[in-house]
Amino acid sequence: MKIAMGSDHAGHTLKVEVEKVLQEMDVEIEDYGCNCTESVDYPDYAQPVAERVAAGEVDKGILICGTGIGISISANKINGIRAAVCHDVFSAKASRAHNNSNILAMGERVVGPGLAGEIVKAWLETDFEGGRHADRVDKMMAMEEK
Ligand code: RB5
Repeated sequence: MKIAMGSDHAGHTLKVEVEKVLQEMDVEIEDYGCNCTESVDYPDYAQPVAERVAAGEVDKGILICGTGIGISISANKINGIRAAVCHDVFSAKASRAHNNSNILAMGERVVGPGLAGEIVKAWLETDFEGGRHADRVDKMMAMEEK
């Protein structure tokens, strides 16, 4: 499995922690930065990750900013992306099973590294259920501007 990672300055420290979890899981990582804690703009890091996911060049993406909000809204501007902000394990599993989320977003100012690691594991280990959920996801994706 290959995961594209990105964060702004407010998510950089948690990104490093999440990458350790991914390495323990033998997941291949493409890191699109940032690699600093000086102020940067989250759309600049959301875009390359979202484009890699949308192109099918990686399996999924993980994005982290202060809240997970700005970076997920940015990623969702790219056609094909279903980025979900999840700060608990239940939502992370549901975002995969029901919404087929392809990017997980989290906020370093919201969750600690321990919970973030559990969220990441649950998210990666949960498959999309399809069926009636697929009809809804199809309708959702049909709203994208072509
Ligand atoms: C940066 O201060 C912060 O606004 C950003 O990381 C994110 O939380 C925005 O949604």
